[in-house]
Amino acid sequence: MDLRHETQPQKVSHFFILPHPNKTYALVFFITLLITSIVFCNFITPHLLPFGFFKTLPINTQLQRPTNTCDYSYGKWVWDETYPTRKYDEDCPFLDPGFRCHRNGRPDFGYVKWRWQPHGCDLPRFDARDFLERSRNGRIVFAGDSIGRNQWESLLCMLSQGVSNHSTIYEEHGNPITKHKGFLSIMFHDYNVTIQYYRVPFLVVIDDPPENAPEEVRRAIRVDKLHRFSLKWAGADVLVFSAGHWWNKDKTLKMGWYFQEEGILNMKMDVMEAFKKSLQTLKSWAYKSCDPKTSHIFFRSFSPVHYRDGEWNSGGHCDRSKAPETSYVNPEGEPLNNQIILNVVEEMEATKRKVKFLNISYLTAMRNDGHPSRYREPGTPQPSPQDCSHWCLPGVPDTWNELLYAQLLSTGFRVK
Ligand SMILES: *[C@@H]1O[C@H](CO)[C@@H](O)[C@H](O)[C@H]1NC(C)=O
Ligand SMILES: *[C@@H]1O[C@H](CO)[C@@H](O)[C@H](O)[C@H]1NC(C)=O
Ligand SMILES: *[C@@H]1O[C@H](CO)[C@@H](O)[C@H](O)[C@H]1NC(C)=O
Repeated sequence: MDLRHETQPQKVSHFFILPHPNKTYALVFFITLLITSIVFCNFITPHLLPFGFFKTLPINTQLQRPTNTCDYSYGKWVWDETYPTRKYDEDCPFLDPGFRCHRNGRPDFGYVKWRWQPHGCDLPRFDARDFLERSRNGRIVFAGDSIGRNQWESLLCMLSQGVSNHSTIYEEHGNPITKHKGFLSIMFHDYNVTIQYYRVPFLVVIDDPPENAPEEVRRAIRVDKLHRFSLKWAGADVLVFSAGHWWNKDKTLKMGWYFQEEGILNMKMDVMEAFKKSLQTLKSWAYKSCDPKTSHIFFRSFSPVHYRDGEWNSGGHCDRSKAPETSYVNPEGEPLNNQIILNVVEEMEATKRKVKFLNISYLTAMRNDGHPSRYREPGTPQPSPQDCSHWCLPGVPDTWNELLYAQLLSTGFRVK
């Protein structure tokens, strides 16, 4: 399943410029014209068309984007000795001990020296002062699972580079960064910018099962009700959602966590169906609670895991790779979660909201060398499973934030 559709707009314009008298071309021209007019009508009356329609027309989002935008999702990793000197190091106070891989004994340093080079364009150089200045008096929210926390910590450290006195950066409620519950809010005092993380792996409410529920039901995941933290997300200038990693059978149905909708437990609802519904719930929330002109919403794509010779709980490992893979072909195709996320993003884009799909799956899939693997946080009991799902910091999530910055720049992001 190849979902890259960047070449399609070019084809469209080609046919428009050179309509050919040949019958086949005429037919193709006609079909193209038809599709284009449907897409055009779709702009004017996006609500009239059913949801499923967008799936068959990925071309839709391409036409909405300015032609000068670049597809940062595709490219290669290049060795760059100067790259680490532009970055923070493991002394950054906002890092979880589990992400400080050298301190935890990892001997090789190569994994911080790979820079992402998109195909056909360059990523803008990350400028912490500029990012903070653009965000002045604003608020940036990360919500989701611990992969989102990984990215949030990376951003905190990247932005700290733009501040000379680190005592002016602090948790607003004095909470320590490591042993946290719920949410954390880091204030960059000189810029009056807060950067927050909310731990909500499913985004929606996890509840006790309703009365009379069968005994095997331990928790109810309420797909039509967003977590109460969402009250605090409203009005944020940038929102980055990280979800999808918990939406699998192991973390739901197999643990006795079933899905509930409109007060009714639905034991038959499948995990992907439930994920779709929860994203629809998030979408409705965003329509109500986010300003379409000022809120920038990002859905980060799935971050691949790299367990080899087993799964996380059966001896899988990732401590043997010292360099990225040179090419990446996913035999299973794009993770289904991504397609579900992308569909919601496209629906929201069609209503002229500032919503982006932060597609990091491909570049991340090649970085089997970037995980903490067995260099886990001090005090981890031995033997323990390797961590091949989170990322060493500095490391791969820094690139996700470079993409985030690039996409914000491309929309002229600036808090008033
Ligand atoms: C994400 O980016 C990769 C690399 O460009 C691409 O192959 C994939 O189709 C994209 N995913 C989606 C859902 O657009
Ligand atoms: C800081 O930013 C908030 C909005 O996030 C604003 O209400 C407040 O007035 C700002 N404070 C200062 C001192 O500018
Ligand atoms: C750094 O900031 C703290 C808190 O605002 C302040 O007390 C301290 O004097 C500052 N240090 C320097 C060297 O400016």
